[in-house]
Amino acid sequence: MSAAHEEIPQKKITTRNLRVMKNAGTKITALTAYDFLMAQILDRSGIDIILVGDSVGMVVQGLETTVTVTMEHMLYHASVVSRGVERALVVGDLPFMSYQVNSDEALRNAGAMVKQSHVEAVKLEGGSSVCNTTERLVTAGIPVMGHLGLTPQSIHKFGSYRVRATTDEEADQLREDAISLQQAGAFAIVVEKVPASLAREISTNLEIPVIGIGAGPGCDGQILVSHDMLGLYTRFHPRFVRRYAQMGEEMLSAFKHYADDVRSGEFPAADESY
Ligand code: KIV
Repeated sequence: MSAAHEEIPQKKITTRNLRVMKNAGTKITALTAYDFLMAQILDRSGIDIILVGDSVGMVVQGLETTVTVTMEHMLYHASVVSRGVERALVVGDLPFMSYQVNSDEALRNAGAMVKQSHVEAVKLEGGSSVCNTTERLVTAGIPVMGHLGLTPQSIHKFGSYRVRATTDEEADQLREDAISLQQAGAFAIVVEKVPASLAREISTNLEIPVIGIGAGPGCDGQILVSHDMLGLYTRFHPRFVRRYAQMGEEMLSAFKHYADDVRSGEFPAADESY
């Protein structure tokens, strides 16, 4: 086992541990999963947070946006991911329109994620508009992760995936939203695609961990979509995605190799037959 591996704490990650990690200056690691196998491998790697993201709509379902992902989809994916995880904190994304109508509906949907799919926390997008709902869920015992900056569920409102909070007004709004979410009881906030200096400032000023995606190195932790960093989803490549593998290329080559072997009679061999 490598030195880096030995340092991974084996105990179950909780929302409390994450605060301790922030205070100790230990960076928090997070990636997404949508199925049992990926969740198992991620958990073995020592990743701290596994997010069942509504990015499932894009990287698994092949949709253009996350907007049409439903509660049924999320409940299914969250339940199979939870089954594969022992150590990481499993967070389930609440999909668009599952928490915006009113806090009763939000509570019912968040409750279903916890009770039926066994996630340990939920994530929802937005600032002051979701603070009452955040407070309601937290009061009911459901930990909430916020999501500020680029909020993909509002793509039709903003019309682009450009960097957010680049004007003074937007940056002030982000600072306010982050404080409001912390006051509402959120245990962490994802901050997506905002200037690195702003994300660093917010991370420094908040007591709760700030997990960045396209938000520079000053955050308390980092998250990426697994299918992006593995080189599996290649429809577009934002500059904040570092590709740690080219698994799409590897799979393509393996599938072609198999097909060639079947066509040539090379597969199956005698010792692969009965
Ligand atoms: O759905 C998702 O994968 C996310 C991450 C990009 C943070 O929200």
